[in-house]
Amino acid sequence: ERFVVIMSGGSGTRLWPISREVRPKQFISVDDGSCMLVQTIERLCETVPADHCFIVTDKRLKNITLSTVKKLIPRKNIILEPQKKNTAACIEYAAVTLKKRFGEGLVCFVPADGYVTDRKGYKEAIEMAYDTADKTKSLVVVGITPTYPATGYGYIQIDTERGDDERVMTVQRFIEKPDIETAKKFFESGEFLWNGGILVGSLDAIIGSIRRFLPEHDRNISWAVDNSSRSNGNRYLDEAYNKIPNISFDNGVLEKIDCIYVIKGLFDWDDIGSLDSLSKTFKTDGNGNKTKGKHLGVDTGNSIIFSDGALVTTVGVDNLIVANTKDAIIVCPRERAQDVKGLVELLKQNG
Ligand code: GDD
Ligand code: MG
Repeated sequence: ERFVVIMSGGSGTRLWPISREVRPKQFISVDDGSCMLVQTIERLCETVPADHCFIVTDKRLKNITLSTVKKLIPRKNIILEPQKKNTAACIEYAAVTLKKRFGEGLVCFVPADGYVTDRKGYKEAIEMAYDTADKTKSLVVVGITPTYPATGYGYIQIDTERGDDERVMTVQRFIEKPDIETAKKFFESGEFLWNGGILVGSLDAIIGSIRRFLPEHDRNISWAVDNSSRSNGNRYLDEAYNKIPNISFDNGVLEKIDCIYVIKGLFDWDDIGSLDSLSKTFKTDGNGNKTKGKHLGVDTGNSIIFSDGALVTTVGVDNLIVANTKDAIIVCPRERAQDVKGLVELLKQNG
């Protein structure tokens, strides 16, 4: 059997103020329509039936998740975590839960924040990943050809012995979010793919990899899932999550494990990590502006303007981001879009 689990508990702080703790980026509507979470479900339901499609998320996002995915997938397929402890915990908890319910199967973990328009190419890569995981009994990731030296993605060094047209390759090394100097070297070498955040493997292979590299995660979460009952509620799971460290699957497992495979994805992809990349999904006007919501501009070019209410007006503005939401506004040069993260830290300190 083949399952999909969408990881949807992250926060997307660099998209502030459009993305908020109570409404993270996977719930923002893109292309004037559905949000990335819904688009992700629709894309994957072309590969697996809806009742084999699961979402794992933070319990504080329960209501927004339920109202967003309504009739798309069954309610019992929403797996709630007691707190955010990063992707290693969410992968372990979801995998152990599926194992308990179904015994065995192949599972594909995907992020909820991937923006893809080529659905056919996406489906093809996912199916190739399932087939490879089935055949090799190993973990399989999906790689994307890099277009610039990004520092916000993982890098996968591929086996260059193989020809360029090869789609299934072995991974030599995995490096999560390198610094800019390293990213430049990787980008120029042509030996690397970006990690698309998609992970496929049998339930046993995935749980086994966590047991090996993050034994505390497996011990605590497996025990909690095995021993949870109606009478003790989620108390064991709460305790397990309190004990385990906050670490991503990329840092905790993928950087350490040998013998994994990568499928080269040929679809377009963006993880919408900043206001600048979110604007890809906006309308373009004749002056190179990307806009969503009401905007009027005089001598305004190459800017990103968002409003979910008031009319935004600009005069003599170039390369600027302006986003207006009900209770907050941001103004920032386009090239500083990544630095919004710092602002969010500042907001936290100031309550
Ligand atoms: N349920 C749950 N619980 N989901 C989580 C948690 C958690 O604690 N933390 C993150 N997620 C979800 C996010 O909502 C997102 O859909 C996905 O897991 C990945 O987390 P991000 O926080 O967005 O990771 P990233 O973008 O910094 O890096 C990852 O994705 C990149 C591609 O988008 C890494 O896998 C990189 O290597 C990769 O290049
Ligand atoms: Mg992401």
